[in-house]
Amino acid sequence: MKENVPDPNPELLTARLLVAEENMIVDDEEFHHLNNPADGIKPIVKKYLGVPNHAEQKGNKFFFTDGDASVEVTIVTKEIIRIRLAPHSVFLDEFSYAVPELPTKAVAFNLSETDLEFKVSTEAVNCHIRKQDFFISFSDSKGITTSSDAAPMHWEENVKFGGYYVFCTKTCAPEESFFGLGDKATEFNLRGKRLKNWNTDAYSYGWNQDPLYRSIPFYISVNDGIASGIFFDNTFKAHFDFGGEDPTKTSFWADGGELQYYYIHGPHMMDVVKNYHILTGTHPMPPLWALGYHQCRWSYYPENKVRVIANGFRQNKIPCDGIYLDIDYMDGYRCFTWNKKYFPDPRKMIEDLAANGFKTVVIIDPGIRVDDNYSVFKEGKENRYFCRRSDDYFMEGHVWPGRCQFPDFTNPEVRTWWGGLFDELVDLGVAGVWNDMNEPAVFGSGTFPDDVRHQYDGFRGSHRKAHNVYGMQMVRATYEGLRKQLKNKRPFTITRAGYAGVQRYSSVWTGDNVASWEHLKIGNVQLQRLSVSGISFCGTDIGGFSGEPDGELFTRWIQMGTFSPFMRAHSAGDTKEREPWSFGEPFTSINRKFIELRYKLLPYLYSAFWEHHRYGFPILRPVVMHEQETVANHFRQDEFTYGDKILICPVLEPGQTSRMVYLPKGKWYHFWSLEMVEGGQEVHVATPLDTMPIFVKAGSVIPEYPVMQYTSEKPIEEVKLNIYYSDYEVNSFLFEDYGETFAYEQDIYLEKKFIVKGTAKTMSIKQSMEGLYTPRYEGYHIKINGLPFKPSKIIADGKEIKEVSVNPDKTYEFKFSKNFKQIEILK
Ligand code: GLC
Repeated sequence: MKENVPDPNPELLTARLLVAEENMIVDDEEFHHLNNPADGIKPIVKKYLGVPNHAEQKGNKFFFTDGDASVEVTIVTKEIIRIRLAPHSVFLDEFSYAVPELPTKAVAFNLSETDLEFKVSTEAVNCHIRKQDFFISFSDSKGITTSSDAAPMHWEENVKFGGYYVFCTKTCAPEESFFGLGDKATEFNLRGKRLKNWNTDAYSYGWNQDPLYRSIPFYISVNDGIASGIFFDNTFKAHFDFGGEDPTKTSFWADGGELQYYYIHGPHMMDVVKNYHILTGTHPMPPLWALGYHQCRWSYYPENKVRVIANGFRQNKIPCDGIYLDIDYMDGYRCFTWNKKYFPDPRKMIEDLAANGFKTVVIIDPGIRVDDNYSVFKEGKENRYFCRRSDDYFMEGHVWPGRCQFPDFTNPEVRTWWGGLFDELVDLGVAGVWNDMNEPAVFGSGTFPDDVRHQYDGFRGSHRKAHNVYGMQMVRATYEGLRKQLKNKRPFTITRAGYAGVQRYSSVWTGDNVASWEHLKIGNVQLQRLSVSGISFCGTDIGGFSGEPDGELFTRWIQMGTFSPFMRAHSAGDTKEREPWSFGEPFTSINRKFIELRYKLLPYLYSAFWEHHRYGFPILRPVVMHEQETVANHFRQDEFTYGDKILICPVLEPGQTSRMVYLPKGKWYHFWSLEMVEGGQEVHVATPLDTMPIFVKAGSVIPEYPVMQYTSEKPIEEVKLNIYYSDYEVNSFLFEDYGETFAYEQDIYLEKKFIVKGTAKTMSIKQSMEGLYTPRYEGYHIKINGLPFKPSKIIADGKEIKEVSVNPDKTYEFKFSKNFKQIEILK
């Protein structure tokens, strides 16, 4: 009988159990005499690459092996090199949601070998593989090392799930700084931080809380004035340590998947960000209205409330383009349904709102209520579109609608189905969709359990692999569905969760923040960080989602929001009314003044958006991006430029009547007083509530639209050009197109370039244009600011301009054709 058989060696048996239970290594010696098939089998704990003994080339890929493990080095572009590690030389299938395809442009490269190393080089970057220990490092064309392993790449077996934990450790120099990683609520410079990527519903998050809603495993390092980037394309829970545990080491690692990263060369932060966009894409051009002001609340209902709010904007003459319906528009929170009691005739309401200049945006969450009388659930169930657990049970969890199942958005068939579900909403006139709770969030447990299975576009995986991309694939399905149904019109989408590359499908907001001054600061940092992490089209819940702002905080937030690429006020349902007029005077007038400024600057923002979309520039640019060579700038996080011509510094403290603002080198104009200020220093700026520090770079041409109550209220009859004198040459850009179609993909747009240059006695403005679009307006209203002399003559394309208004602040205004080539202003 089994229980009577004496255990041959109880001690060893206990040791074996320990091995099984804790995946620990037990010394070989303890097993060697035991006739047991488990003898010698043990999990791999922290195995490091050995000595590379072989190199092989296949096209633009190089393979190095230590006899067991292999490393693949791929030349992606002249500035981008990808590294992959295969512990037993079997690489995982090549598939990435972040990088849909690698750039295909031919690049010149070569492999060389010395006694010490193998070296793979392009014109811009060298990748060194050290023979002694498999350390991988990168250097630039001058031989300066920009990134270097501090340990060989290593891995550890995951007995429970299979696969490996994968690790990469690099050196961290004494003055090295780190930027990026998406929405982290901590100092802008990540030096000294240890952070995690695991999309999390983080209601009312606090300073230093981590992780939050998004996972963007991309960071930029700046050391000795040189920038480079690492994009760790791994969707599993990932970790980053920027000199936190050991100030001499930077590490990144993940709980599964492949150790795969892209080294992205600089030398400027801007180059790194642009190259990151080459891999992961940029935001498509938004419809112009999406750049206007948006009003949201959880929730505006019933229908009459929505109408009252919309009318409130028009009565108060505060511009607004978008109004949002949060979950209460639905029937029992069932997505794609309407609560007919609150919204008896949604088509009529949306039509009336549209006639009043409002686009309607509706929320759609991933949780689908388990209800056999609900068509979306029935269809999903019949077609097996919902996620399932490892034992084939459906993944069920509670969210707003109660018990829910969740579509597997990593399945392309599910995405197509989901995209099609928007047909009714689009037919009703809905113009934009807001995807929320897609971390995915589940009440109680937080998110899905690890064993949930995902189709993962045919590359199957558990939730460990799919968690961080779930939200991105949801909003992708939404965007692609809307794009089909809106025909040639640009969809507008906003998502809470995302992974690297989510920018190809959506804008984002920073989730459930709080009405506090601290959160205003957090938001300011988060938006700059998102912007350098690929997600330029971002905003915060203006005013703070939970809690109550006072009038001053709300107004300061509106001011910052005026310069957020996405501008939306939003608040939780248990808070007081929160519209721009809710706080009375003087707040209403100041809020109006800033929202009007947003509308005036729309052509400038739209042009910055084009520069993002087409050329990969971020819209918000932190100071360090302008002057990375100065270490002090690595720690500046309040001021940033909006596009490249306007510097903003939000007021982030209550009762603040003045503050210090750093201006990068060059000359700047104080936006309100037109005083010229020399940059390269901190300046003291008065900050009464009705202004905020805004500076315009000398030599800029800032285009301006007339104030309208919504973007398409009237045809633009004239564009104002605010031109700022400079004694050195400065280029500015203006992008124009239809504002709502995809004609720009067929090259139907106009790119205008202005060159401004002045001397002590002259100023000239040259204009050139390229493109196939013809704007409908005929003329410019030109305003010259900061001219250091009194002009005797203004000549435009050879003709003297006689009608010039001279203002008391020594600015000059006149009108001329939009097609001018050159304007000369003479003393
Ligand atoms: C989540 C969202 C918030 C929304 C609420 C109700 O908390 O982050 O913006 O208002 O859900 O849908």
